[in-house]
Amino acid sequence: MILKGKRVLLAGMSDRRSIGYAIAMELQKEGAELLLTSFGRMMTITEMTAKKLNPVPDILEMDVQKPSDIKAAVEEVSKRWDRLDGLVHSVAFAPQDALGGQFLNTPWESVATTLQVSAFSFKELAAAFLPLMKEHGGSMITLDFDNSTQAWPKYDWMGVSKAALESVTRYLARDLGRYKIRVNAICAGPLATLAASGIPGFKDFEGEWEKRAPLGWSLQDRSPVGRAAAVLLSDYLNLTTGELLHVDGGYHAMGAELPPR
Ligand SMILES: NC(=O)c1ccc[n+]([C@@H]2O[C@H](COP(=O)([O-])OP(=O)(O)OC[C@H]3O[C@@H](n4cnc5c(N)ncnc54)[C@H](O)[C@@H]3O)[C@@H](O)[C@H]2O)c1
Repeated sequence: MILKGKRVLLAGMSDRRSIGYAIAMELQKEGAELLLTSFGRMMTITEMTAKKLNPVPDILEMDVQKPSDIKAAVEEVSKRWDRLDGLVHSVAFAPQDALGGQFLNTPWESVATTLQVSAFSFKELAAAFLPLMKEHGGSMITLDFDNSTQAWPKYDWMGVSKAALESVTRYLARDLGRYKIRVNAICAGPLATLAASGIPGFKDFEGEWEKRAPLGWSLQDRSPVGRAAAVLLSDYLNLTTGELLHVDGGYHAMGAELPPR
């Protein structure tokens, strides 16, 4: 059990399709103790999903757009635990007009929301929970869709936010390394989740991935991402930081479609 005795806070688990749920399951399997966060109307869904975990973790209210929620969550975590070993940021959101091919017309308010929830919030959580980690070190991870070098159909301002998130990951790695805190991103291939269902044309990705990923890909199998998270949160990769770890079947490394298998 590579996470025995580790205490991890996971932000962003919704229903059972959620990448957060796959991560939570793998972390528990590896012996981690968990606390979850959710917010607003999503809370009921998170509560239902959490019942499938064993033991059922407590869930704190934390809207990453509300500094008061983040502060309250830090206080709650501090009451339960004297230290935090891991932080998982599996949070993203874009208003409808920031996705779907309206790139040239998206108003700044929608762009700002997308960037705040999907990129800036990683820095917000990292800074807020730092006092619980800085004495002994730890690991922080976020969830990325490899975006810094390419534009994707329909992904629009979420794509820009993911590029920003990759950069945030590197700057956090720079500033938190002195506390022996590692900061990495998992670049997952497409997975059928609640957030993904809001991306128009998302299903088209499946065929694309199958044709190009040498290891193959399934939109339904989230467990490889969960296991990658477990390894990044463990002590095994203790000199890995500022890294974008691809869990995408190898898609990113291919220049063209592969011949049919
Ligand atoms: N599904 C994919 O294909 C895919 C691929 C690569 C990366 N990702 C990333 O993985 C992460 C998790 O997404 P998912 O696909 O599991 O979907 P999901 O809907 O299960 O997770 C998104 C989470 O973000 C949370 N969230 C949104 N706004 C928030 C706010 N203001 N405050 C706090 N939490 C908020 C939601 O409550 C939800 O739990 C996201 O960053 C997503 O971009 C997804």
